[in-house]
Amino acid sequence: MSTTIYFDEYGDPSVLEARDEEMAPLNAGEVRVAHRAISVNPADWKILAGYARDFLPLPLPAVPGNESAGVVTAVAPDVTGFAVGDEVIRVGVGGSYRAEATFPAPELLPKPANVDFEQAAALPVAAGSAYAGLELLDLAPGQTLLVHGGAGGVGIAATQIALHRGLRVIGTASPRNHEFVRGLGATPVAYGPGLVDEVTALGGVDGVFDTHGGADCVAATTALVPDLKKTTTVAEDQHSAAAGITPVGAPMDSLARIVVAVGELASQGVLRFPVQERIPLAEAARALGISRAGHVRGKLILVP
Ligand SMILES: NC(=O)c1ccc[n+]([C@@H]2O[C@H](COP(=O)([O-])OP(=O)(O)OC[C@H]3O[C@@H](n4cnc5c(N)ncnc54)[C@H](OP(=O)(O)O)[C@@H]3O)[C@@H](O)[C@H]2O)c1
Repeated sequence: MSTTIYFDEYGDPSVLEARDEEMAPLNAGEVRVAHRAISVNPADWKILAGYARDFLPLPLPAVPGNESAGVVTAVAPDVTGFAVGDEVIRVGVGGSYRAEATFPAPELLPKPANVDFEQAAALPVAAGSAYAGLELLDLAPGQTLLVHGGAGGVGIAATQIALHRGLRVIGTASPRNHEFVRGLGATPVAYGPGLVDEVTALGGVDGVFDTHGGADCVAATTALVPDLKKTTTVAEDQHSAAAGITPVGAPMDSLARIVVAVGELASQGVLRFPVQERIPLAEAARALGISRAGHVRGKLILVP
């Protein structure tokens, strides 16, 4: 039996329900994984709310969660490259909010040996998007990057990778997170009115990575960096689209390469997420409520 978090209809986190389910026999091409850590992302409550239903319709009931890490417990006879006991990362669409889960083998990657399960679980979405966004920006060492939302999952990873590449980083955050952003090695600034003046007073920036979105962030981005090739966003909306800011998107064609690259950075100690809270899997609704409130510092991790 495996604890699984289901939703029968789209809605807010209160529609989530923990159920015990029997593990079905493996089909061809599948691998079973006992999860040690499941990473929570804003995408989880957005998909649950139905924001993506037009282009990503889910057969209901559905299980949230796009990334996790654990240990292989069974492998279908036709699968090569995985064995019982292997430590793996899973990345895919939905299905990760399970204590034990069965996935198609192509959704699994080896977990870097010296990266713990909760750090590994958080790598694909937050660190992978940060890595892909920085590739798009293609800034040179010595240049300065502004990160809107420097204390969130993507913002932390973007900051850590950018600093590692020799960039200077200015990170926006609420005042309670300024010491935290400074601790990452970035210069903290408050978001909201006065942001453009404050960043300009710090010498301006050569590129912007927006992890929050909305009219205010987009207006600050275009005021600070008119060359839109040096601006990107993981929070694309009508404002960023109207301004012509390139979204990072979901780099599915190069996902494996990017997850391997961020895994190496995690192995080297370049990337490390603070975990705001470890939450029992059965309390997934509470975890998604915290994420939806919009002020997570680092990552929320579900523990089976
Ligand atoms: N490839 C993709 O398309 C992709 C991948 C990953 C994430 N995303 C999206 O990117 C966004 C960020 O994801 P995440 O995982 O980093 O979220 P997160 O961990 O929940 O962090 C959100 C951050 O936003 C900050 N914030 C709140 N209000 C703000 C404001 N007005 N201006 C600037 N920052 C503000 C918060 O900082 P304070 O607490 O200091 O306010 C918080 O640290 C989400 O919308 C997510 O869905 C997209």
